[in-house]
Amino acid sequence: MIKNELCTIISQKEIAENIYELTLQGELVQSMNEPGQFVHIKVSNGFDPLLRRPISIANIDQFNNQFTMIYRKEGHGTTLLSEKLAGQTVDVLGPLGNGFPVEAIKSGETALLVGGGIGVPPLYELSQRLVERGVKVIHVLGFQSKAAVFYEEAFARLGDTFVATVDGTHGTKGFVTNVIENNNLDFDVLYTCGPTPMLRALEQGYSHKKVYLSLEERMGCGIGACFACVCHTGDDPTGYTYKKVCSDGPVFKAGEVVI
Ligand code: FES
Repeated sequence: MIKNELCTIISQKEIAENIYELTLQGELVQSMNEPGQFVHIKVSNGFDPLLRRPISIANIDQFNNQFTMIYRKEGHGTTLLSEKLAGQTVDVLGPLGNGFPVEAIKSGETALLVGGGIGVPPLYELSQRLVERGVKVIHVLGFQSKAAVFYEEAFARLGDTFVATVDGTHGTKGFVTNVIENNNLDFDVLYTCGPTPMLRALEQGYSHKKVYLSLEERMGCGIGACFACVCHTGDDPTGYTYKKVCSDGPVFKAGEVVI
């Protein structure tokens, strides 16, 4: 069930260059049931900035009613958010969207989780859920440079973890696809979240496999009302049918929408 609630900040810290980890407490955590869902954050109480900001959920702790988000400080809204302190409140709408299907893979099988930049966070909750189900997880995480890397150790505690940086300052120089090829990584199901060119490369490269993609799309309302986030469906040559990333996704099976 979607709720709108003022959640209390438990902690906020910068964990990489311009990357913030924010832990919030609120009743709506009890409705967070799928990894890969997101929340919509209203940063100020007035009209500036007007729109909410969609941020993915990186960790869910239902016992303590807490959840953690990781976001990049890059515009006015997220700069205001990064200045908020423990004890203050944040207006949260959520949980929103449909997450990654953990039941798409069986115990004993191998999942490959591939994240790029700020697409990495939702894979953390996903990885924990898969490990709980007896799935072997392999992570491939791509960043611009060493300064942007986060959660490498946290992922490594759950399974094999490879890092690629575009400038080669940490891990493999290049892209996540280079890491998968260089290491001959084999898997039963691929789950991925990150920039569109990365998703496209993975969708094309592994079309013979089961692939689930989470789209990072520009959003308005977040609840299916404004059409700011539409994508055409893969099986309609006329281009007239579409899906909304916010309410039909953000996770889609490869081929379901045109990316
Ligand atoms: Fe408004 Fe998706 S963001 S319909």
